[in-house]
Amino acid sequence: MAERLLLRHLTSINDLSNAEIERLFERADRLLAELGDPLIPHRIGKSAATARGRILASLFYEPSTRTRLSFESAMLRLGGQNISSADPATSSVAKGETLADTVRVASNYADVIVLRHPRDGAARLAAEYASVPIVNGGDGAHEHPTQTLCDLFTLRRENKQLRSLNVAVSGDLRGSRTIHSFVYALARFGANIMLMPAKGMGLPAHVAARLEEDFGARPVPRAKYVRENAAVDALYVTPDKPHQLSLSVGVEPEVDVKIRKEIDVVYVTRFQKERWAEASADYPKIDAKFLKQRKYSETSVLHPLPRVGELDVSLDGDRRAVYFRQAAYGVPVRMALIELLLDSEHGLARYDGGFAEPPRRLYDQLVGIRCANANCIVHDPLERHYVRNKFWMLPAAGAVQRLRCVYCESDTEAAVAGNLKRREFAAFAPDETATPTPTTVFFHSAGDAVAAGFSERAPASRRNRAGARGKVAHPR
Ligand code: CP
Repeated sequence: MAERLLLRHLTSINDLSNAEIERLFERADRLLAELGDPLIPHRIGKSAATARGRILASLFYEPSTRTRLSFESAMLRLGGQNISSADPATSSVAKGETLADTVRVASNYADVIVLRHPRDGAARLAAEYASVPIVNGGDGAHEHPTQTLCDLFTLRRENKQLRSLNVAVSGDLRGSRTIHSFVYALARFGANIMLMPAKGMGLPAHVAARLEEDFGARPVPRAKYVRENAAVDALYVTPDKPHQLSLSVGVEPEVDVKIRKEIDVVYVTRFQKERWAEASADYPKIDAKFLKQRKYSETSVLHPLPRVGELDVSLDGDRRAVYFRQAAYGVPVRMALIELLLDSEHGLARYDGGFAEPPRRLYDQLVGIRCANANCIVHDPLERHYVRNKFWMLPAAGAVQRLRCVYCESDTEAAVAGNLKRREFAAFAPDETATPTPTTVFFHSAGDAVAAGFSERAPASRRNRAGARGKVAHPR
C-alpha cells in the first residue's frame, strides 16, 4: 500500500522545528555553493532541475516585490514553472470569489501555493481548504515566516550565532508581521531581544505573551541594562536551562544575566501605512549618526524592505549594511523551502515536525465568542461560510477563559460560559468549564450571551430547591 504523506504548510515560523530550519539552511548553503554566481557570492546564478515538471502558484492579494519575485525566481532556478495572480482586481476575487474556493481551485493547478493577504490568519484558513502546501507570504499583521527564514539565514551567513546575540528591533513592532515571526524565532534560538519601538507601536500584547508562555523568553528588569542601552524599551532573554524559567507568567522573574552592551544586530522596519492611520512624528530613523556609538561598531543592519525613509540611504555603502544581501538570500532560502515541501522522499511531508508548543485543547463552535481582532480573516464577510470560531484554550486568568484564535493567533477573553443545548449561561468558572464539551459555548460577556438568545442560569441553591420539587430550574 502506498505510504500516506503528511500535508505540511508554512503559515507560521512555528510550523518548522529548529532542526527543520537548520536543515533548510544547510540546503540553502549547498544551493549557494553549487549554483552561486562566482562573482557575487550571495546571488544564485545558475539553475538546477530538482523541481522540473512542478508548478508554483503565487496568489497575491497585496503588493509585493521581493516575496513574489524571489519565490518565482526560486521556482524557475529549480527548473519548475510559475503561475501567478498578482492583483486581486484582475482575478475572480473582483467578482466576489472567496479565498477558500480560490485555494481549492488553485490546488488543482499547482503543486505549492504562496499566498499574501491583507487579513491576519488568511494563510491558516487557506491551509484548511488547500490540498497542496500553502506558504504564507505575509498575512495582515500576523506573520511572514519566509522573511524570517531569510533574516536568520542572513545572520548565519554573517557568522552571527543566535544564542545570546543582542538583537535590537526598531520601528513599527505592532503592525510589522516580519517582526512577529522574527521575535518568535529569536526566542526559540536563544537570542536576546531588544525592543526599540516607535512611540505607541510596541509589540502586540499577545506576541509579548507568547514570547514568555510558548518560547520561554523572560523580560529583564530595566535597571540591568538602562545605563548602557537607554533607548531599549524592553529586553527579553531566553535562559539556557529550563529550571531558570519562571513558573508563572506575569511574575517578575529573577533573570540573573549579564547583558553585554554591544548591539550585534539592528533590525529596522518601516511604518506599516497600509494598516494604521498615521505614523508618530518621531518615528525612529537609523542613520550614520545613530550607529556612531562604539556599541554599534560590529552591528549588522537588517531591513526586510521596502524602506520608506527610516533607513538612511547613506548607509548603503557601510560594511554593516546587509539588507540587500538579506533580500538576495530570498532566492536560495525559498529554493530550499520549495525543495523540502515538494520532495516526497526526504522532504517535510515525511515528518510531523513544527515547533512543540505547550499542549492545548481546541474550542470549536459556530456560535458564541468571536475573535477580538477586527482584521482577522474570520471577520471577512466573504469567508463567513468557511470559518468557525476556533480557539486554543490558554490557562484561565482569574474569572476569564483566555482563548487564542487558531487563525490569527491573537487573544480573546471569555467571561461567560454557556450550554448550547439548554441555551443558558453563567459566569465563567475555571473548575466547571476547563474541559469544554461539544455543548460548551463561550461568550465575551453576559450581554453577548443574552443577545444570542441565551438565559442566565439560576444560582445552584435555587436549582437544587427546584430540582427537589421536580421542576426544571433554568429558564428557556
Ligand atoms: N520583505 C517583503 O516582504 O517585501 P515585499 O513586500 O516586497 O514582498
